[in-house]
Amino acid sequence: MAKKVISSQQSKIVILDFGSQYTQVIARRIRESQIFSEVLPHTVKASQLAKDATICGIIFSGGPASVYAKNAPAIDKKIYQLGVPILGICYGMQLLAHDLGGKVARSERREYGQGQLTVKKTGLLFKKLNRKLEVWNSHGDHIEKLPTGFVVLGTTENAPHAVIADEQRKIYGMQFHPEVAHTPQGKEILNNFLFEICACPATWTMGSFIEDTCEKIRRQVGEGRVILGLSGGVDSSVAAALIHKAIGDQLTCIFVDNGLLRAGERKAVQDLFQRNFKIKLKVVNAEKQFLSKLRNVTDPERKRKIIGKEFISVFEKSALELQRSSKKSAHPFKFLAQGTLYPDVIESVPIGDNPAALIKSHHNVGGLPKNMKFELVEPLRQLFKDEVREVGRELGLPREVVDRQPFPGPGLAVRIIGTITPDRLKILRAADAIVLEEMRASDWYYKVWQSFAVLLPVQSVGVMGDERTYDYTIALRIVESQDGMTANWVDVPAALLGKISSRIINEVKGVNRCVYDISNKPPATIEWE
Ligand code: XMP
Repeated sequence: MAKKVISSQQSKIVILDFGSQYTQVIARRIRESQIFSEVLPHTVKASQLAKDATICGIIFSGGPASVYAKNAPAIDKKIYQLGVPILGICYGMQLLAHDLGGKVARSERREYGQGQLTVKKTGLLFKKLNRKLEVWNSHGDHIEKLPTGFVVLGTTENAPHAVIADEQRKIYGMQFHPEVAHTPQGKEILNNFLFEICACPATWTMGSFIEDTCEKIRRQVGEGRVILGLSGGVDSSVAAALIHKAIGDQLTCIFVDNGLLRAGERKAVQDLFQRNFKIKLKVVNAEKQFLSKLRNVTDPERKRKIIGKEFISVFEKSALELQRSSKKSAHPFKFLAQGTLYPDVIESVPIGDNPAALIKSHHNVGGLPKNMKFELVEPLRQLFKDEVREVGRELGLPREVVDRQPFPGPGLAVRIIGTITPDRLKILRAADAIVLEEMRASDWYYKVWQSFAVLLPVQSVGVMGDERTYDYTIALRIVESQDGMTANWVDVPAALLGKISSRIINEVKGVNRCVYDISNKPPATIEWE
């Protein structure tokens, strides 16, 4: 009898997004409890949700709007009739109270920050929890009158209706944010919703994800062949290992050496993927091409644009070459694989003004060659970054790959201020290698978000032996961050900075001064260009 494949996604929780900064955090928390979660725009139709029998519960996120504001984000009211448990958080709670006949009003005082919740009725939501709980609030509106059928489960000092429920219909609302770390028992509260109220089974594990996904890849690709642009970063590396597990030799990776890589990167990628994993790898040496296009270019945005464009052209050319050099009998390269992650896929909700205007144009593998008709294979589309890392670990990728620090697509080009020359690249590469070596040796490498060297074309006077020098400056940048959006410089031990500095000045010819960058983001950015 055929083995029944237990899908990791047999059940899931849907989160309707009302524009809260915490929406993705809710999705993460649910997955940490081994339940698949999916963020959908609040405009989704009830009929679409009704078609999906795997949905065990729906969460309405918070959001910046007021329910009585003009154009306040609303939902298809038939969602309340689906018979699926609902939990509204903050705005989500106000919305459901408003929709179901309650009254929401503006509070005199905005409740923001830590507060204490008093549980009035334990029910399933507060099962096995204390009667007094620390919670994190951030809201201006409150519920004045409960909808029919609802009771109060909890109160805070300023909100007599802080947690409400119609336990019969399994519709719950809470004013505070259970998903943030500032609500220490938020996880248990969410778990009670997931397991006690929604009765959702915990089947989402990376092991089952790998099995399911390999199956899906095989189904999608059949006997066709797949190309993947491998950069050596976490996402493309994990995608390569996963697709290789699914279809073996039908995958070919292309690694473009643009001459802007860190020391030893090309060899590391070859060693790991070609020798160790036995993945077909085409290494393209495009150093000359990139450097000639970048000659005398100083403007950071131009550097980025040139590198992005060149990358696509090299990739496209290599893919065509691969195609042409294949045996006649070989299946065509019909598919292009990418390491796209879930945060790139979630449709953002345009609520209010979005201040995230373009500051730097980031480029990643992803621009589809225009005249090639590829179908996309994106096996990581449903995953958050830390889930990708876990998949990588399960697939046997080493820590240096799975937990590596981010490295920008344009590479060392945006870490050399001003023009890029082979000499400057050589200096920066040597200095950067020392930074990494010392960060690893001191166990600081994995504790920080990024640590690297920047070459400043500022020459200053120094003395080496009996000789006067007039050499470049290296700036050290070591920052901590959650997601790269904001970052703080790290107060690493002075002895470590001292060691890095003296090694760079002594070992790297052309540098006689080392400075430490103590700027946070904002207002500085992490990379210097
Ligand atoms: P900034 O300099 O904007 O960087 O504070 C934020 C994070 O993004 C990385 N970064 C890039 N990553 N392609 C990438 O894949 C790029 O063009 C790029 N530029 C910056 C940067 O290293 C940091 O982690």
